[in-house]
Amino acid sequence: MRRVFVAGNWKMNLSRDETRKLVEGLRDEVGDEDRLDLAVAPPFVYLAEAVAAADGSNITVAAQNVYFEEKGAYTGEISPGMLLDVGCTYGIVGHSERRHVIGETDELIARKVKAALDAGLKVILCVGELLGEREAGSTNDVVRTQVVKGLFDLPAEAMADVVIAYEPVWAIGTGVTAEPEDANEVHAFIRALLAEKFGRRVADDMTIQYGGSVKADNAAELMAQTDVDGALVGGASLKVDSFVGIIRNTIEAKGLG
Ligand code: PGA
Repeated sequence: MRRVFVAGNWKMNLSRDETRKLVEGLRDEVGDEDRLDLAVAPPFVYLAEAVAAADGSNITVAAQNVYFEEKGAYTGEISPGMLLDVGCTYGIVGHSERRHVIGETDELIARKVKAALDAGLKVILCVGELLGEREAGSTNDVVRTQVVKGLFDLPAEAMADVVIAYEPVWAIGTGVTAEPEDANEVHAFIRALLAEKFGRRVADDMTIQYGGSVKADNAAELMAQTDVDGALVGGASLKVDSFVGIIRNTIEAKGLG
C-alpha cells in the first residue's frame, strides 16, 4: 500500500528550545494523525530532543544525513546505528545541498543508502535536476542516473524502506515550484524506472515525495497529482501553522479525509 508522507527538512535551523516547541506544537495539531506518515528532520544535535518531544505520537524523526560506516575513525560523521540508537526512523540521503554544496557524488550516496538500509534505517533518497539541466531538456537523464546509481544495486525487498523525494534544485528555497503537471511527469517517469527494475507492484507501493518551495497554499495542487505522494518541505516546515497547513491540504487533496 502506497503511503502518503509529509516530512519537514529543517536544514541548519532552529535551537534546542525551538526544536522542542515546534515538535510539541505539531504534536498538539497532528500527533494522532494516522492517515499519512509524518516526519521532522532537525539538525543532528537536536535529534534526541525531537524524539523525546514526539514520543508516543505518530510523528517520526529523520536525520538530514548519514554516514556509510558503522563506527571508527571518521571524525565528524554519524552512523546509521547511532541514528537508530537515538530513535530516528529515517535518514535523508543525497539532498541537493549535500550533492551541490558539499559535493557528494552518486557513488557516495549509494554507499550511504545501502548502509542505512542494512542497519534498519529507512531512507529518503533525494533526486532532482539543476536549472541548466532542465533548460537543456536533460531532466529525465539526470534523475535516471541518480535513481539508478542510488538504488539499482539493491534487492527489490529493500524498496519497502525507501522513499524518493523528487526535488528540482531550481525550486528549492526559491519560492518557485514546478508546475504540478511537470512534477507529476517526473514522478511518473521515476515510478516507471522503478517498475522496470523492481516490478510494477513494488513501484506502485513506493512513496515519491515532491520537494521545492512547497507551502500550504500550493500543496493542494501539487498533491492532487496521481504520482505525487507527499512532500519534503524545507522553509515551510519551520513553523507549526505552515507545516500543519501543508499536512491538512495534503490529506484533503489525497482524499484521505
Ligand atoms: P524548500 O526546501 O521547501 O525550502 O524549498 C525543500 C528541501 O530542500 O527539501
